[in-house]
This record gives sequence, C-alpha cells and structure tokens, in this order.
Amino acid sequence: MSTPHTAAECKLKPPSSRLTKLPTYVFAELDELKEAARKRGADLIDLGMGNPDQPTPAPIVKAIQDGVANPANHGYPNFKGKPEFRQAVSAWMKRRYGVDIDPDTEVQPLIGSKEGLAHITFAYIDAGDYSIVPSPYYPVHSRATWIADGLVHHLPLTAENRFLPDLDSIPEEVAKKAKLFFVSYPNNPTAGVADLPFYEKLVAYCRKYGIILVSDLAYGELAFDGFRPPSIFNVPGAKDIAIEFHSFSKSFNMAGWRAGFAVGNPEIIKALYSMKTNLDYGLASAIQDGGIYALNEGEKFMAGIVQAYQERRDVLVKGFRELGWQIEPTKATIYMWLPIPPSFSDSKAWCRHLIDTADVVITPGIAFGEAGDRYFRVSLVSPKETLQKAIDRLKEKGIRYDA
Ligand SMILES: Cc1ncc(COP(=O)(O)O)c(C=O)c1O
Repeated sequence: MSTPHTAAECKLKPPSSRLTKLPTYVFAELDELKEAARKRGADLIDLGMGNPDQPTPAPIVKAIQDGVANPANHGYPNFKGKPEFRQAVSAWMKRRYGVDIDPDTEVQPLIGSKEGLAHITFAYIDAGDYSIVPSPYYPVHSRATWIADGLVHHLPLTAENRFLPDLDSIPEEVAKKAKLFFVSYPNNPTAGVADLPFYEKLVAYCRKYGIILVSDLAYGELAFDGFRPPSIFNVPGAKDIAIEFHSFSKSFNMAGWRAGFAVGNPEIIKALYSMKTNLDYGLASAIQDGGIYALNEGEKFMAGIVQAYQERRDVLVKGFRELGWQIEPTKATIYMWLPIPPSFSDSKAWCRHLIDTADVVITPGIAFGEAGDRYFRVSLVSPKETLQKAIDRLKEKGIRYDA
C-alpha cells in the first residue's frame, strides 16, 4: 500500500452504521435555516430553544466555586457519587414527593439526565429488543435504542387522549419482547401531564410483562398554578420495576453544569452504574457540591424560577389565543405544543414560513418524531417582553391559525 500524503488519500473509514442510519437531527437542520436567515440580516426571535435563559442562582454557583477550590475534589470522583450527594437526593425525594429512597443502593448521580437515559438503554437493549416510547418524544428516548440496534414501538400521543399513551393498543408480542418503557411527564414537547391513575395502570402493565419502566421527570419541578406532578414512586409497587431520572438543568437553571440523578430499583440502578463505570468517571465532585447545595437549600430559588415561567406562559397563551389558537393554559414544563394551521402541509413548511415572513423561530413538531408533524413547539425561555414582541410580529404579518 502506498503512503498517503493528503487527508483525502488517507481514505478514512466511515462512522458505524449505528450512527449513520439514524434519522437526521432536525435541530441541526433548524440551525442551518437560522444561519441563512441571519445572513440575510434577519433579527430572529428564537422560541425554538429549550435552554434556560436565566443564570444559576448565585449561592449554587458559590457552592460550585468553593468545590472547585477544594483539593479534595481534584481527583477522580467516586463512581457512586459522594455520600452527601446521595443523602441529599434521598432527603429531596422524601420532602418533595414523599418517596423513600435508600441513599446507598437506590441513587446514581449523572452527568445530566440525558447521559443516564442513553446509558440505561445501552445497559438493557440488545439487537432486536423493543423499547416502548410514546411519540412525539424527547429524542434520546428513541434514538438510544436505535443506536443499540433495538426496535422502538411508538405509541401516539394526541390531544384527544390528553397526551397519555393507550396501553391497550400495544400488541401482545411487542409487550413480551419489550425491555424498556419510557415515559416523561410533565412532557416535552406536548406539555401533557400524568395523573396517578395513569401511573397506576402503567406500573401494573410493566409489572405484568417484567418491563423496566423508565420515568423521565426532567420537568417535575416546573409546574404552574399550584399543580405538583407525581413521581412514579408514588404508586405502590413501582420500585419493583422502575427507575426515575431527575435533572438540575431546568429546576435550578443549571443546564450548563451537566448534573442529574437517577433513583429507583437497586438492580436497575446497579445496571446503570455498571454501564457507566465502563464509559465515564461520573459527575465532577465540585458540581456534586453545587447539587448538594441546590437539593438542600434550593427550593427557595425554585419558586421564583417557576413564577417567571408561569408569567411567560400567560403572555403566550393570551397571544396565541388572539391569533386564533384555541388553547388551554399549560400545567407544566417550559413549552407549549400548538397545532400548525390546517393550510400548511407539515411542520417544517410552517417553520420556514414563520422564519421567512416574521423572523420568528419555532421548533417544527417533526423534530420529536413523525407523530409531531402537525404541531410546533414554542419555549418559555425568553423574557416576557421578547415573547410579546414575537406575538406582535406574528400579528403584524397577519399570521393566524385560521389564515
Ligand atoms: C424530557 C427531557 N429529558 C431529559 C432532558 C435532558 O436533561 P439534562 O440537561 O439533565 O441532560 C431534557 C432536556 O431538554 C428533556 O427535555
């Protein structure tokens, strides 16, 4: 073989089919659309992002800064996390949800909950195994299974079923082959919420088939008008089959620090832990210090964070109603999930139209799977004034649901 002289001559081997067979990540396409609009001089208002716009509360930052300065934190972290972190998680689960969690065997710190959601999938899914995933879905709920060469059985979430999946529609052979069942309430992107009767049915279903129930509670703290979302562990018997993922990202404006945790059945926690010991070194110790502070002292900041989102929601609900959308105020999350006008063929066409005519960016529902293609998502991560400006722009351009 001749020695290559240029990068092209190296004939680099391609990435794995696991990676290349994945459907395109719509958020990357959206970035290209935004880039093109900015090049033509557009002053975009971006309602598409899910990234909290407010800083992490200063005392949490201070706890991390102190942690960074502490030499005891400078080595590799313990795979299981600091005992104080696990203790803080256990106390939090008791205080917020009335749930008993053993800090020694039922907690796993995570480098953000997305990491854990991917790794629990790799811990359980072999080629040909099924995951059951309500659709539309937060991408990693389906994509991790595809990366693991598994199959995903999607359950449609519709406004008619209050964005709760119909368990009776799952074919018996899928239920028998399924290893994981993902649910995430309060839901991204639909903002749907689950009640205890639904969780009771779900827990009974997963117990019947021995399916590991993966509850993603990333928005558990962001609920409005006094509503308190339940934990899956509020259902007796859930701990026999379930694991629940929590995130610091939205509750404490900590998305950039990458911190989360899982709680649940010790055997499932152990499988996640084992997968992680093979792939990473766990959550940085200084960030754990910030997490300990947030869990022990942070509820006082959360109230302000939730109040700000609720006020933003009110601006958008009023604004979209004035534009012809018939919507009810959302009960939770930092999103609203709205139908695209009937005159548009699909969610990407609607998204392009809004960028081209009003310089307003939304997320096309297709980003969350085929079932989302007649919807779009807007986020509450901009100040009220910006949200109002977006509504005013839509009004000026004559954009209406019924136009
Ligand atoms: C439903 C859901 N789960 C998990 C995550 C990821 O959270 P984290 O920042 O903890 O990785 C997100 C982020 O947007 C989300 O919407």
